[in-house]
Amino acid sequence: MKTNTYISDSIIYVGASSYEDKLFEAHFEIPNGMAYNSYLILDDKVALVDAVDKLVVADWLENIKDALKGRNIDYLIVQHVEPDHTVGILEFLKIYPDVTIVGSEMTFRMLSNYFRDVSFSNKLIIKENDVLSLGKHHLKFIFAPMVHWPEVFVSYESYEKILFSADAFGKFGALDKDEDWTDEARRYYFGIVGKYGMQVQALFNKLASLDIKKICSLHGPIIEENLAEVLDKYKIWATYNSEVDGVFIPYTSVYGNTEKVVFEIKSRLEEKGVQVEISNLSRDDFFSAVSNCFKYSKIIFATTTYNMSIFPYMNELLTALSERNFQNKKVGIIENGSWAPTAGKIIKDKLSLLKNIEIVEPIVHIVSSRSEKNELEIAGLVEKLTN
Ligand code: FEO
Repeated sequence: MKTNTYISDSIIYVGASSYEDKLFEAHFEIPNGMAYNSYLILDDKVALVDAVDKLVVADWLENIKDALKGRNIDYLIVQHVEPDHTVGILEFLKIYPDVTIVGSEMTFRMLSNYFRDVSFSNKLIIKENDVLSLGKHHLKFIFAPMVHWPEVFVSYESYEKILFSADAFGKFGALDKDEDWTDEARRYYFGIVGKYGMQVQALFNKLASLDIKKICSLHGPIIEENLAEVLDKYKIWATYNSEVDGVFIPYTSVYGNTEKVVFEIKSRLEEKGVQVEISNLSRDDFFSAVSNCFKYSKIIFATTTYNMSIFPYMNELLTALSERNFQNKKVGIIENGSWAPTAGKIIKDKLSLLKNIEIVEPIVHIVSSRSEKNELEIAGLVEKLTN
């Protein structure tokens, strides 16, 4: 999909979106496609900020040609080496062989591992806080290690006060999809950089003194009108605080008995005015569940015992949360087991390794199906999650 948009008289969006790949990074479902952003800055010198994925190379090259109107490109700035932003370089260099590639020492080390047959001899090696002058436009390079890879840097353009933010502030979804920024940005954030909250906070500290009017990330729309809201969300996410005081219930249920209890608890919480969301981990989007575990202040993990452990999708969820530094939550547990229930203990053991997780006792212990004996546990759980 060809998309050329003027961000200003001098800065042009030359990226493109694709619906071809249904799994971003072979991992995250992207039913609404994905944008691979790239920006051209026209001044005395011409700079291109980042390349694109193989899926959109042809559109990208056409966009660049249209935007250049016969000019040449002086610099290609490689803020992030991950192939969704660099594979396009190979075709690009065939058309613009004299371009100077701008990156750090680590950028070039990592590039050479991906592109073993390319010499990258025409290069400018930058250090943190170096400034590249293009004329009126000046790009200051600010290193952002682990947001999302170690070589990442962002670039602040001081004339138009634009932050080119690499992966930070991105989202899933093609640019022609009119959808809410927050849900898909949160799913992207916790999917991709959720583990690195400390590093995102470190980047925030480096950006604190800058006057930023627009953010141009490598995925998703240009952020301008909703800038304050986006920055607020990122501060909550990076510090592992919850956006919503409510309850999220990820669950698995093989024959529907655990699910019935989940529905009952949902109704009872909602009757008390609590915002509740549920997710069947066998059927609903996995990374939406991961995202919701960070969104809500209280989580109820509900699952069956399976192979003397816990049902696979719940196991996967707990692993994904642990890998992303899940913390600061009040947690309820519902276990089901027909002869030797182990799920509750295993969930507790896993959560005990995480920071600031308060487990509500007693857990709800179902033997095959809900019994009268469960009433006290369910009432207790509802009570303790609403007080
Ligand atoms: Fe969009 Fe970390 O690559």
